[in-house]
Amino acid sequence: MMHKRFSPNELEEFCCYLKQEYGLSFSPEKYHQLENRISPIMQEFSCRRLSDIIIQSKRDIRLRQDLVNSLTTNETWFFRHPAHFRILSHHILPQIKKRAAQSHDNRIKIWSAGCSIGAETFSILITLLENLEKPQDWNISLIGSDLASDAISRARTGVYSKQELKEIDKSIFKRYFTSCGSDCYRIKDDLQKMVSFETLNLLDTWPPRKFDIIFCRNVMIYFSEEHKQKVTDKFLAALEDNGFYLTSANESIHWKTESGLKKLFLENEYVYQKANIKESFRLYQFATPSDLLRALNILNQTGVTYGLEKITAAHNLAPKRAIFISQRDSNRADELFLLSAIKVSSNHPYKKN
Ligand SMILES: C[S@@+](CC[C@H](N)C(=O)[O-])C[C@H]1O[C@@H](n2cnc3c(N)ncnc32)[C@H](O)[C@@H]1O
Repeated sequence: MMHKRFSPNELEEFCCYLKQEYGLSFSPEKYHQLENRISPIMQEFSCRRLSDIIIQSKRDIRLRQDLVNSLTTNETWFFRHPAHFRILSHHILPQIKKRAAQSHDNRIKIWSAGCSIGAETFSILITLLENLEKPQDWNISLIGSDLASDAISRARTGVYSKQELKEIDKSIFKRYFTSCGSDCYRIKDDLQKMVSFETLNLLDTWPPRKFDIIFCRNVMIYFSEEHKQKVTDKFLAALEDNGFYLTSANESIHWKTESGLKKLFLENEYVYQKANIKESFRLYQFATPSDLLRALNILNQTGVTYGLEKITAAHNLAPKRAIFISQRDSNRADELFLLSAIKVSSNHPYKKN
């Protein structure tokens, strides 16, 4: 393939920088597109070589912003992947309401990470407003963040096109939007005031905050496995006990990082819930990797929730992961493993730390 201005080595080095710094990925087939997108930036900031962008971007925030604004893909729409919003209404919010009633704490803290222009963030808010009996009695903290400052500026305007609202129910649309011109619809002011938006690179340091629910969907698809794992571990640390993590199927976490997360199968989807460290569990170790895999399959099929834990294997061929299951589900798991002749090598009480 012919490239206009840069050598393959220069492009390769630049792509490494983009991947390392922002998680953005460009394969050689996309070099042409990359060149087209960065040419205007090079001109504006008087960069002659790609390495000039790397050097200048370290001290020039405007260059950094223009770079990520031109290279990120911000496609999104309201209620994208509706199953996640059904899970929020039918499974997550009922648990949060129950917790709030028991603890007399009506706070609910949600992060829509990689929210692009805010369609996901406002879809979450609308789902809350539609499902909390008295939303005004709740202390809702909802943050949308994205790497691209242009996308965040748009999120703050709360203005959307028909295309971005294509999946929204008509009655919901009428309740929460007003028309503001041709192909231009604005979210109502009172909703806009309930959300805050910020620019944040998920690969940088995050402010120390805790959430009950984190959405991060269609963001980490092209991250390296190492970045995916690091960011997922940080999401886990940013969740309250029993908090939920919703991500897209194509970026769902590799089981290496699932330690401390329970995998739930709801509305035909996997979502993750942080294990409550105060809850008691049983830790199941298996005789062979195939027993472990069969156990995972059975748990997934039957909807028993579980988490995975790294263990020191008894010998070289033994599995290096064990499964932990809440004490109250362990009788059911025992029964399922017995029926399927899955060999459990040990099953003992276990506390998460
Ligand atoms: C395709 S949009 C997805 C938007 C929304 N979550 C959804 O599912 O509709 C992906 C967003 O991820 C953002 N993104 C990519 N890399 C990021 C990073 N390192 N930190 C934060 N956001 C990032 C992009 O700017 C883009 O707006």
